[in-house]
Amino acid sequence: MTPTRLLLLGLGLLCTSALGAIQYCHKDELANICLGIVGAKNESSSGVDLYVTLGYEGTATTGWMAMGIGEQMAGALMFLIIADQSKNAVLSVRTTAGHFQPQEAPDKTPAAELLSINSQTDTWQEYAFVCYSCDSWATFNPTEKSHPLIWARELKQTFEVATSDARIHQHDHYSLFWADMTASAPDAGQAAAPPTVDRSKGTFGASDFGAPADGSESESDPGFTAARAHGLLLGFAFMILFPAGAAVFSTGYSKSFVAHVTIQLTAMVCAFSGVGLMLWPIIANNGFERLLEAHPALGSVLMALVGIQIWLGWWHHKNFVKYRRRTAPSFAHRWNGRLLLVLGTANTAFGLVFAKERASARMVWGTLAAVEAIVLLIVVPELARRKEQMEDASSKQKVEGDERGHLLSEGSHND
Ligand SMILES: *[C@@H]1O[C@H](CO)[C@@H](O)[C@H](O)[C@H]1NC(C)=O
Repeated sequence: MTPTRLLLLGLGLLCTSALGAIQYCHKDELANICLGIVGAKNESSSGVDLYVTLGYEGTATTGWMAMGIGEQMAGALMFLIIADQSKNAVLSVRTTAGHFQPQEAPDKTPAAELLSINSQTDTWQEYAFVCYSCDSWATFNPTEKSHPLIWARELKQTFEVATSDARIHQHDHYSLFWADMTASAPDAGQAAAPPTVDRSKGTFGASDFGAPADGSESESDPGFTAARAHGLLLGFAFMILFPAGAAVFSTGYSKSFVAHVTIQLTAMVCAFSGVGLMLWPIIANNGFERLLEAHPALGSVLMALVGIQIWLGWWHHKNFVKYRRRTAPSFAHRWNGRLLLVLGTANTAFGLVFAKERASARMVWGTLAAVEAIVLLIVVPELARRKEQMEDASSKQKVEGDERGHLLSEGSHND
């Protein structure tokens, strides 16, 4: 046999052994990862065992990496590799009902085991694991040609000791990809084992987009999640309803007091429902330390201010009915309201950053914020000035002295 033939044979063998596996690689300025995936029918359990080799660029002692089965974190089965300072690593199988700290649920999730740790170099790590009878998990379908999978990578967190229940920081990077699970069976006669990751081959049997077979042009988009419903409800409350309710009060429209109270109460219902959507899963999962992050922390302060605002409004109203003039709570109500609008608008932006939302969402925010600023800083003061002028003219005959200002500026308070 000539050396050329030998080489060809060798290459042929190399290709055959790679057949039947799926490889997904992703490289950008934040993360460089490769996943090798093989599904194998287990004769004794008659389930499908999933073998995965997970590789990433980075040191063996910082950050974590995970792969998940499903289209989004909620409901996905996640395999998390946690490596510690002494390069010990554990596999943690987790799941979550939403976009927050996933928890272990060994009684509900299929059995899985870390098979190998391969710290090849200082900058490339590989871990192999198996998930037994993985098809018992609802989001895994080994016969699907375009199967959604996710991966996530955190770059900075360090662990003293790797434990499977370690608290993890939020991922720095993640994406959704699609794998042809029908291409992922081991070759006949070959024992099921984790595939070898070959970075030079790039992605095969998988893609960044859903297969056109199912007709849908799927982008890497998680769809309508609870987090998005939360954002829409709070954005609507803080950037549309609350400013509208504040504006309506200074228009001089005859029913402006009733309109003001109605709009603000509606906004509060939206805001509290939106908060509940995120708060409920946090409580259910004991993820209270998530509330310490900037966006939820500011959100909590805002909700407290909303509570205070209701009380100040009621106090102002009670005093106004009694003395027919503005008192300290009136000013407090007005300034607390302004603070709420500014902080609420800012926190909507923090929320978009926190959720790593699309650019189009940030554009909508920018447009709304600009409209809000124009209305509240230019249109509303102008309307209020005109109203005051009109009332000034009509009441000069009747009212005089210091009483005038009070009555005029509360002219809309016609309950
Ligand atoms: C089949 O699954 C069982 C666990 O359900 C496991 O212990 C066994 O090793 C698997 N067989 C093979 C050939 O991998």
